[in-house]
Order: sequence, then structure tokens, then C-alpha cells
Amino acid sequence: NEGSLWGARFAGGPSPELQRLSKSTHFDWQLAPYDLAGSRAHARALAAAGYLEADELDRMIAGLDALEQRVADGELVAADSDEDVHGALEAALIAEVGPELGGKLRAGRSRNDQIATLVRLYLKDHAITIGRMLVHLIDALSAQADAHRTAIMPGRTHLQHAQPVLLAHHLLAHGWALSRDLERLVDWMKRADVSPYGGGALAGSTLGLDAASVARDLGLAHPAENSIDGTASRDVVAEFAFVAAMIGIDLSRISEEVILWNTREFGFVTLDDAYSTGSSIMPQKKNPDIAELARGKSGRLIGNLSGLLSTLKALPLAYNRDLQEDKEPVFDSVETLEVLLPAFTGMVASLTFHTERMAELAPAGYSLATDVAEWLVKRRVPFRDAHEITGALVRYAETNGLELHEVDDDALASISAHLVPEVREVLTIEGSVASRDGIGGTAPSRVDAQFATLADRVRHL
Ligand code: ARG
Repeated sequence: NEGSLWGARFAGGPSPELQRLSKSTHFDWQLAPYDLAGSRAHARALAAAGYLEADELDRMIAGLDALEQRVADGELVAADSDEDVHGALEAALIAEVGPELGGKLRAGRSRNDQIATLVRLYLKDHAITIGRMLVHLIDALSAQADAHRTAIMPGRTHLQHAQPVLLAHHLLAHGWALSRDLERLVDWMKRADVSPYGGGALAGSTLGLDAASVARDLGLAHPAENSIDGTASRDVVAEFAFVAAMIGIDLSRISEEVILWNTREFGFVTLDDAYSTGSSIMPQKKNPDIAELARGKSGRLIGNLSGLLSTLKALPLAYNRDLQEDKEPVFDSVETLEVLLPAFTGMVASLTFHTERMAELAPAGYSLATDVAEWLVKRRVPFRDAHEITGALVRYAETNGLELHEVDDDALASISAHLVPEVREVLTIEGSVASRDGIGGTAPSRVDAQFATLADRVRHL
């Protein structure tokens, strides 16, 4: 069983079926740079504890550096016989520096503490990349909002016309949701910033290695407080998958709107040619594929999270090989978002909004009825009565095929003595929007203030 991490205890090598099942190099090879960083830190800890002479450490580090270069060049890849990235790189190190020195590195560590550390290092790096991509998307939404500060659109609840709102207010609403995803990533970092290295297989090591210095070397805040927890827990991976799924869901909600807005019936937006696709049969088609892919991929991100949670459920402590199943889903979530987010941001940044069409539809569906009711309340009519009076007004207008502002003075008076002609002053979409000027409201003054608070929030995360 040449080149394997074990053997002496076994009468023979693993069966080909087992090897095929057990193999993880086709996905864990991307952890190679982290594995080598872990090995360098571990070699230093071994030297500090007296298990490597100074010159041995130098040769070991030089060997690991050489492997890193060969991995980066694509020249060193896993062999068919390698089970995982850890074993493959140990074999490569032994080939590089000889069995005498290379065989010393494995002392005091296990693949169990290694893998638990490496997955954190990988996810931390990608959390930064994904975080930056989220900032770009929030910026693109803010820039579109900024370019349309006064545009008014129909605000909806239950997908029905509800009350007019500023387009900027609506776009910033998506920006706020994404800012919380960014905040989740930043907060997740605190829990990811722990090094299980030194925990060994589960119980720690007898060699007296300095786990804190290994953590420091790897840029992690501190070693795991409990070696069983360090090697056996994957909540940090699951939490990352949750944040990725939540980002996917927030993108999917924007997507659904872009898809609707882009229909002939809505006519609210036009997609840039560079961010839409055609049809192989229908020459006239221009499709919102980026939004559809985002909506579809949110399902995949949710699947990755639920698969991971299912793997963890009822898993006894400490390490179990089941834990190897954490990597493919979370790697997939990372890769999915890193491909999706730049395309999505490009789509948002290049959208053309048809603000006249939005403004035209904004008052439709009697969306100013609440304005009438609140106008009555300001004239000290109890809201219950105001609601009834306004309901009667809507009913009258609907039966007679009129908009609210088209109902004449006599008809108004016949519905209620409170409905004097001045009520028409609140029956404009501009007036309606401007009057919702409490904190968080859609009034232009409040929306103007949001640009700075959102930008501030994002920068300070
Ligand atoms: N490849 C494993 C994983 O991804 C780490 C190796 C631990 N294997 C073992 N037999 N203890 O979790």
C-alpha cells in the first residue's frame, strides 16, 4: 500500500470499489493552497517544540513552497491513487524532500483537524469575494435609484396596486435586504475565525504543539477551545450555506420583479442587449435569462443548505466520514454566487426604466384611496368612518367608470358631507408620495436621506 497514509495494520490495500467511493481529490484539490499553508504553520509549531531542527524546518518550508508553486502552475495534480488532498500533498512532499524529513510532518495532526481548518480558510477567502460582489450590486441598485429620484411607480401588496411609491424607494428596499446579507457574512466571520488545527483526530495531541501560533500563522483569531467540537462541528459551513441561500433568495425576489417588469403588459423596463438572450426559433424574442437563472439557482442554493443540514443531523461526535459531504454543496454555493452576482449586477446596472409608463399606472386601481381616508382623519373623522366613506367613494367611481379625482362635487357631497372639493388636493401621485414623510416613508425627502445611510451602513460593515 505504497504512498498511502496507513497500511501496516492492513493485510492488503483497499479494493478498487472502496477507492472509487472514498476519493475526494476531484473536489478537495482546490483546498491545496490552504493545505500547504496549514502544513507550513504546523512545521513551524513542530520546530518550536523541538521535533524539527532549524535546517529541517528550512528544507521542509522550501519543499512546501515548491509544491505550492507546482500546484499553482497546474503541474502538480492529484494522482489516481490519491484519496484526498491531504494524502496527495504528503506523498508529494515526501517525493520532494525525501521520506526521512517528509515523514515527520504528520506528527501531532490528523486529516480531521486539517480539513476542519482548511474549509474555514477557503470560506473566509470566498466570503470576502462574495461580500465585495454584494457591495457592487448594492451600489448598482443605489445608482439606479439615484438616477430616478423622482420617478413614481405603483407600489403593490398581494401583487395588486396598493399605494404609489418612489421607484428609488423600491430599489433601495432591495439594497437594504442585501445589506443585511452582507452583514450576515461579516458576522459569520467571527465564528469562522477559529482554528481547529492541533485538535488531532479528536482529543488533541501529546506533543505540546502551540495551537495558538498555528492559528496566528493561518490568519485565524484563535484555536478551537474544544478539540472534539473543533474537528466534528460544521455549523460554520452550514451557516455559510444559509447566508448563500439567503442571498440567492434575495436575488430571486428581485429577479421575479425584473421578469414581470420586462413583460409587454408591465412595460416598466428594457433589458440591455448584453444582458439578455434571444430565442433559437422566435426571431423577435429578448429574454430575461439572467433573472431566470438567478431565480432557478436560488433553488440550488437552498438545496445545498438542506443537503448539508441533513448530513449533520444526528451525526454523533466526533469526526465521521459523513463530514466529507460538506464540501461539494458549499463549494457549489460559492461557485454559483461568484458566477451569478457579476452577471446580475450588470443586468441591474444596465436596466432602462420606463418611468412615464410607471407614473401612468401609479394612480390606477384607486391607489390614492388611503390618501383620501387619511385626509379625512386629519379633518378629525374617525378612521373607521373615513375608511367607510372612502370605500363608498371608490365604489361610486368604479360603478361610474371614473378615477377618484373625476368624481364631481355633487357626487362627493352625496357620498359624505365630509367630502368637500378640497379633497382633490390629495389626489395626485406626487402629493401622495410627498406626504408619506415619516421615518422610512416614501417621501422624496426621506428617500434622499436613505442613500447616505445605506452607503454608510455598507461601508461600515
Ligand atoms: N477527506 C476527509 C474530509 O473531507 C478528511 C479525511 C478524514 N478521513 C478520515 N478517514 N478520518 O472530511
